[in-house]
Amino acid sequence: MTEKKFKANFPSEMVKEGKVAVLVPKLAAFKEQPSDYAPSKAPVFYNPVMELNRDIAILAVQAYQRVANREISLCEPLTSSGIRGVRFATEIHGVKNVLISDINANAFNLAKHNVHLNGLTERVTVQHKDANCLLSCHGAPHKRFDVVDVDPFGSPVPYLDSAIRALRNSGLLAVTATDMAPLCGVHAKACIRKYGGKPLRTEYCQELAVRLLAGCMATVAAKHDIGIRVVFSHCSDHYARVYAEVGYGAKKADEGISHMGYVLHCFNCLHRETAKDLFAKRVEQCPECGSKMDYAGPLWLGKIFDKQFCELMAKENMHMAFRNSGKIATLLSTATAEAEASLTYYVVDKISNKLGLPVPSVNALLQVLRDNGFQAVPTHFNFRGIRTDAPALTMQKFLHKIVKDT
Ligand SMILES: C[S@@+](CC[C@H](N)C(=O)[O-])C[C@H]1O[C@@H](n2cnc3c(N)ncnc32)[C@H](O)[C@@H]1O
Ligand SMILES: [Zn+2]
Repeated sequence: MTEKKFKANFPSEMVKEGKVAVLVPKLAAFKEQPSDYAPSKAPVFYNPVMELNRDIAILAVQAYQRVANREISLCEPLTSSGIRGVRFATEIHGVKNVLISDINANAFNLAKHNVHLNGLTERVTVQHKDANCLLSCHGAPHKRFDVVDVDPFGSPVPYLDSAIRALRNSGLLAVTATDMAPLCGVHAKACIRKYGGKPLRTEYCQELAVRLLAGCMATVAAKHDIGIRVVFSHCSDHYARVYAEVGYGAKKADEGISHMGYVLHCFNCLHRETAKDLFAKRVEQCPECGSKMDYAGPLWLGKIFDKQFCELMAKENMHMAFRNSGKIATLLSTATAEAEASLTYYVVDKISNKLGLPVPSVNALLQVLRDNGFQAVPTHFNFRGIRTDAPALTMQKFLHKIVKDT
């Protein structure tokens, strides 16, 4: 098919996102019933809600490129319409080339068309390959990429091994997981099977989802004597996303997996603590209330945001005119403060419900905590959440006090 003759064999329309215009399936044509999820019904997957995910990816890769200070190569092996790869090549400064691919023939043709439409044929190559096949072909020295972005349906785990092998030393791995039901503990067995860690249905399960995904990335990388360092992560809408820099060498791999461990949780008083090793620690009894505790893990206990990396992303965001720029600015400033704060967060409503008390404002509780010398910051994972070093029973005490005083 010559490019001039391209015509999608399904209803399609032009959309603008960031600095590009691309042809995508006309979603309205694929929604026959109100319950239909049009992005999956269309012959090529396209989800406008993921614009935020793509905007943030542009900021993260740009921040990475500025630090690397060289021209970078990117791979997006599950590209659908090509919108993400086209945006990478157009909007990120210092991109040498981008390789995009999809196993679906309709997606491959559409992505090729979108690359032509945006005048990118010199710098963006489109392939029609299985993602693991493509990435494995790039697992040798001089063939590897600076950045691999894995954005699949559901779990990214089937692609982690080949994606890590296709990254050069100090490369950046970006991974989306949309299988939140396993990661948040609704389907615990599936999570253990896929991610190698036990999830827990707690009020901070979104953070545990990020930590289970990062833990899986660290474990897979370690098998290849590669370590990871998580530079940024977020949970937005219906997915978890992790950005990690990889470092070659057994030492880096050992350092990576040294961040693995467990989160212990008491469902009675909401106390939580971490443990490196469940055998070395007596986990049965909650030290606060004496109830039996449960656990999540093994998962990543290390940092899930790098403060400097968040600041760099925020700086890049100031030069962008994304539809989501305001939302992203808030997310990044919250994440910057979260970077140095305690692991896990409390959700104010959860404590109030437990105590049968009216729900106070998050700001009131933040203030009381700070006035009493505790660290207390909001979290992007939940707008009613607070990260603090205050123990669970102290949180309950403050909540009682706020309600009594108002
Ligand atoms: C969630 S969509 C990608 C969305 C895209 N990254 C974006 O930002 O719009 C996942 C894509 O992976 C493709 N896919 C599924 N299995 C694949 C495989 N084994 N190899 C390559 N592509 C695959 C599907 O055809 C689909 O287009
Ligand atoms: Zn307890």
